[in-house]
Amino acid sequence: MKIGVDYYPEQWDQSMWERDAEAMATTGVKVVRLAEFAWTKLEPSEGVYDFAWLDEVVRIFSRYGIEIVMSIPTNCPPKWLYEAHPEMIRVGPDGKRLQLGIRGHRCLMSPVFMRYAKKITERMVRHYASITSIVAWQIDNELEAYPCCCDECRNQFRAWLIDKHDNLQNINAFFGTNVWSNEYSDISQIEPPTAYPQMWQNPALCLEYNRFTNDVTANFIHEIAMVIKRELSRAKLTTNTWFCENTPDFYKMYEQLDFVSYDNYPPVRVPEDPDEFYSHAFHLDLMRGIKGRNFWIMEQLSGPTGSWMPMSSTTRPGQLMGYSLQAIAHGADTILHFRWRTAVAGAEMFWHGLIDHSGVPGRRFFEFSELCKTVSKLGVIDTTEIVSDVAIIYSPDNEAAFRIQPQVEGMYYLEQLKYFHAAFSHYGANVDVVPPNADLSGYKVVVAPTMFVYDQTAAENLYRYATAGGTLVLTNRSGVKDQLNNCIADKLPTVFKELVGAEVAEYDPIGSHEQKIRDFAGNIFTCRQWCDILTLTTAKAYAEYDDSFYRSLPAVTLNRYCNGVVYYVGTVCKMDFYESFVGNIMKQTGIPRLKGLPRGVEVTTRTNGLDDFIFFFNNSEKPASINLPKAMFSIIDSIAKDQLDLKPFGFDIVKK
Ligand code: GLA
Ligand code: ZN
Repeated sequence: MKIGVDYYPEQWDQSMWERDAEAMATTGVKVVRLAEFAWTKLEPSEGVYDFAWLDEVVRIFSRYGIEIVMSIPTNCPPKWLYEAHPEMIRVGPDGKRLQLGIRGHRCLMSPVFMRYAKKITERMVRHYASITSIVAWQIDNELEAYPCCCDECRNQFRAWLIDKHDNLQNINAFFGTNVWSNEYSDISQIEPPTAYPQMWQNPALCLEYNRFTNDVTANFIHEIAMVIKRELSRAKLTTNTWFCENTPDFYKMYEQLDFVSYDNYPPVRVPEDPDEFYSHAFHLDLMRGIKGRNFWIMEQLSGPTGSWMPMSSTTRPGQLMGYSLQAIAHGADTILHFRWRTAVAGAEMFWHGLIDHSGVPGRRFFEFSELCKTVSKLGVIDTTEIVSDVAIIYSPDNEAAFRIQPQVEGMYYLEQLKYFHAAFSHYGANVDVVPPNADLSGYKVVVAPTMFVYDQTAAENLYRYATAGGTLVLTNRSGVKDQLNNCIADKLPTVFKELVGAEVAEYDPIGSHEQKIRDFAGNIFTCRQWCDILTLTTAKAYAEYDDSFYRSLPAVTLNRYCNGVVYYVGTVCKMDFYESFVGNIMKQTGIPRLKGLPRGVEVTTRTNGLDDFIFFFNNSEKPASINLPKAMFSIIDSIAKDQLDLKPFGFDIVKK
C-alpha cells in the first residue's frame, strides 16, 4: 500500500527539486509521477532531445528512495510540431481546427502524430530503460473517445464501416437510411454524426461512431504500448482514466495495459440526496472491475478544485484521509495525490494540490502527512483483494446508447446500476461492477440493469448463469435495441423474455411524475421515470402498480428459470424500494447482511484468503457509532474493539 504525489518539476525552479524530494521522503511519499505534459522540454525542437533535466530529477528521487511513474507526454505535443503539421490538430463539428494553447488537441488518428508520438516514446523508454525505480509507465493523460472531424478521421470512419459491413448496400439496410431520405449512394456521403443535435442523427450511425472512436483510442494506446514493451518488456503499463464527456470504453482501453489507474475527485459536499451516498464507491468498484483486480489512483483529490469551473469547497477535515482509505477499501493499492504543489501559473492554478501557492504547508498537508503514516501501518493488507458475492453489469454500449437517445426525463444509464450498488452497500456487501462478458459463475447474485442494446455474448452469459442456478435481476429498458441500435421488433424484453417469464404489454414513460407500487408484503414504494406494464407467462408478481390505469398489474416479477431465479424490475423507484428488494434477495441467497448501519457508513472487506479485513468508512459529516457483533482487532489503533466510533469521514479497519 503506497501513497504518492503527482509532481511537475518542469513547472518549478530547479533549486526546489531536491527540497521537494526531501520533504516528500520525510512525509512518507513513496511514489511520484513525472513528465506527463513535458514533451516540449524533452524535445525542444524536432529531433533535438534534452533529457538532462529529467535525469537530474530521476537521480534526486532515486536518491530519496522514491519510486517513479514515468509518463509518455503525448497529451501535449510541442507547438513546433503542431506548426509543422497542423493536420494533426483535432477538428470540431464546425470543420474548424481546435485552437492551440490549452492541451489535448491532438488527433489520435493522425499518422503524423502517431509517428512523432512513437518517436518520443521510444526515445524516453530507451533513455530510462535501466532505471529500476521507474515502477510504471503512464500513456498520455485521461484519453477519451474523442469525436474528430478531420479528413483522416472521416476517411477512416468510412473505411471502418465498410470493413465491418462489407458494402454500402448493407450499411443502408442496417442503418435504416430509408427514414428521411437518408440513403447513401456513395461512401463519401457518410459523415461523423457530430454536427446537429445528436437526437436528429441516425442512432445506428451514432453508436457505430462511438465504437469507432473507442477503437481509435484503444488503437493509439496499443501502438504506444507496443513501443514501450519492445524497448522494455518488463515495463508495467497504465493510463489514467475518468468519467468524462466522451467516456471511453474502459474495457477496450485497458486490454493491452497491465493495470487500471483512476483519477478520483469525489465531490467534497456530502450529497444531500441519500440516494447518492455510495456514488463514488460505485465508481471505484467499476474501476476495479475493468481488469477484475486491484488498481491505482493516479490522481486523488487534495483541495479545492477549479480552473475549468469556479472553485469548489475545500476538503473537509478528515476527507483527504478518508477518501484515500475509501479507495483502498475498494481495491486501490497505490494512491497518488494531485498534486504536490499548487501551480502558480497556467490554466490550472486554482486546482489545488497539497501545498498552497504560498509554499507553506497547512491543514491539508498535515492531514496528508497523517495519511502517509497511517498507510505505512497497513502492510498486513498488502496482498489482499476484494471478493464479492454480487456483480452488477456495466456495458459501455448501453451507456453510449442511453446518451444517444435519452429515454425519458431524469433517466440516465448509470442510475439504476448505482441504486442496486447502493442497496447492497447499505448492507455492507462487497459488490463487483463487471463487463457483460465477465465470468459470472462465482456470484450469488448478478444484477444486469437496462440491458438496452443486444449483445449476444452478454445475453448468452446471463442465460448460462440463470440456467446454472444463479439469481439474476433484470430491469426495464432491456432487450430494446439490436446490435446496431435499431429497435427489435418483438414484445419486450424480447431476447430476455424466457428468462423473465413475463412480457411488457405496454409501457408508460412517466418521467418525474411519481406513482406507487405495492410489493407482495403490502409495502408501498414510490416509482417514477418508467413503468413497464407486465403480463405474466411463467413469472409471479413481486410487486404491482398501485395507481394509474394499470393499478394491480405487475410492476416487478419473479420467475424460476431452470435452476435459477430471475427478477424483473419494470419501473424505477427510490432507494427504499431497492433496500427492501435487495434485502429480500440477500436473505434468499444467503448473503450476510449488516443491519442498522448508520447512513453514510460504508463497509467493505479485503481478504488474503486467510484473514479478512473489514473497512468501515463514515462518508458523512456526522459522527457515527457501530456495534460490532464481537470484539475485533483494529489494525489502525492496535486494540480490540466491540464498538467503533467514527468521526466525520473517519474510518477504521478491523481484522475479522
Ligand atoms: C485531470 C488531469 C490532470 C489535471 C486535473 C485537475 O484529472 O488528468 O492533469 O488537469 O484533472 O484539473
Ligand atoms: Zn482526426
